[in-house]
Amino acid sequence: HWTDVNMQRPLIKARHRNVISLIVFGILVHALIMKAAFDIYFSSPIDHGMTPVKSTTNPPAKRVVFIVADGLRADSIFRKGQTVKTPHLTKIRKTRASWGIAHTRVPTESRPGHVALLAGIYEDPSAIFQSWTGNPVDFDSVINQSANAWCWGSPNIVNMFNKDELPHIHSYSYDPNIQDFGKNNTAALDLWVFEHLRDFLEEQKKCLDCFDFWENGNIFFLHLLGIDTAGHGYKPDSLEYIENIRTVDHYIPKVEQMFEKIFPDSSTAYIFTADHGMTDWGSHGAGSDHETNIPFIAWGAGIKVEEIQKDIKQIDVAPLISALIGINYPINSLASYFLIG
Ligand SMILES: *[C@@H]1O[C@H](CO)[C@@H](O)[C@H](O)[C@H]1NC(C)=O
Ligand SMILES: *[C@@H]1O[C@H](CO)[C@@H](O)[C@H](O)[C@H]1NC(C)=O
Repeated sequence: HWTDVNMQRPLIKARHRNVISLIVFGILVHALIMKAAFDIYFSSPIDHGMTPVKSTTNPPAKRVVFIVADGLRADSIFRKGQTVKTPHLTKIRKTRASWGIAHTRVPTESRPGHVALLAGIYEDPSAIFQSWTGNPVDFDSVINQSANAWCWGSPNIVNMFNKDELPHIHSYSYDPNIQDFGKNNTAALDLWVFEHLRDFLEEQKKCLDCFDFWENGNIFFLHLLGIDTAGHGYKPDSLEYIENIRTVDHYIPKVEQMFEKIFPDSSTAYIFTADHGMTDWGSHGAGSDHETNIPFIAWGAGIKVEEIQKDIKQIDVAPLISALIGINYPINSLASYFLIG
């Protein structure tokens, strides 16, 4: 018997070796396929060195007030029964706006959402190798192409569009550490923005050499983080989320009045939208309807009044802003559809 066993030993060893090399080979093939897939799908879509294209020489508006309610899903303000909570936005939408759902792509996160809105491109997929919060590739946006831009909101968002610290872009944000002040009262984050805008406009009225402010082609960007914070903390059917929407709704006409008073030329366009939606359980990032359907309402100078809902893609917003105020399209913008009246 012992001779038999001894004879089999080398055989078992050889088979063992075969299995190991098969596993190693399998892993190598998978690694190769993964690398090929990542090379193809996760490379930057951003081209450099192209000549910017001017949208129009005869723009219908002189400035755009661009308001992003972070984490506001379309359902929360468009669904029947829900609209009671936003009397001002509903009235604007029903009487003097173009409106509909804007469709985002995944990932439904703040940074890719804002890149889509203001640069007209989808999230740079190569960014996943770096981080979700900082875009490694320098990209063009309507903020960069504007004559001047003033941005208020969360530091993560407003600082994204001025990595080169260009003099025509002005960003104001709260200290990231005190973003927590919004935890108990999320609307405080939005009130911060509205109050700073009000103070800024008051200052401009008195300022004798603030010529930039009166130029054509300016963008005023308000980033409102409160609704997103309320959605994460308390879920979209909570009183907190709804109350925060109500606060934003309350301030929209006030913002409009401030601008109309300081610029009584009927040449200001207003856009209200969101970066991404929110699931019933207070998350976002994936591709459900609640996450990818966001509201879009545009009104004021240059905007056609449409009674019926017209849906757009989130990336269509950037070229719309360009065409409204006659600035260059963001260089890598992919969109094609506008609502100019
Ligand atoms: C910003 O705009 C200027 C002027 O059109 C352009 O030269 C520059 O490349 C833009 N920046 C980026 C990051 O694309
Ligand atoms: C938020 O509320 C908690 C509990 O009510 C309280 O302990 C905390 O101090 C509050 N934080 C702020 C910033 O108001």
